[in-house]
Amino acid sequence: MIRTLVLVALATMPTLATMSTLARAGESARDAILADYAAQSRAADPAFAAFSAQRGETLFRTEWAGGDPRTPSCTSCHTADPKNSGRNAKTGRPIDPVAVSVNPSRFTDSADVEKQFGRDCKSVLGRACTALEKGDYITFMAGQ
Ligand code: HEC
Repeated sequence: MIRTLVLVALATMPTLATMSTLARAGESARDAILADYAAQSRAADPAFAAFSAQRGETLFRTEWAGGDPRTPSCTSCHTADPKNSGRNAKTGRPIDPVAVSVNPSRFTDSADVEKQFGRDCKSVLGRACTALEKGDYITFMAGQ
């Protein structure tokens, strides 16, 4: 009995250690991306103080008018609950959840993040998102 417990503990320990290491690595990669958007936001507006999860949520949920009519909102593909898996409204392909609590690798690769903001903001808003909007969005998702 005790031997089984010890074996279970030994078997799970490295997994837990790896998971928290990965989560920490994700956090610092995400922080670096946010720091970059913060620098851009400050350059665009010296009064910039901080990103806002609330503004990020509004961006996520707003039904915009300027984009592709199939995708009026970020929720068109990512669903109203960021913890849920999404579905691409154009192709029907599944999309992994965007909430960081369920998907810690979210917003950790700056090239992917930039590419996808470029595509998705054009599709939904009909224009590029500003650095402020990108930082707000990631800040909202990091708390979800
Ligand atoms: C047409 C469907 C669609 C819509 C609408 C959409 N997205 Fe996405 N989004 C995707 C797909 C597909 C991916 C890439 C697959 C993945 O990351 O799981 C993605 C990924 C992302 C990523 C990259 C995340 C990461 O971890 O690198 C960001 C950022 C993003 N979306 C932002 C937005 C924002 C902001 C909106 C609303 C303005 C939005 N998306 C609306 C389909 C969509």
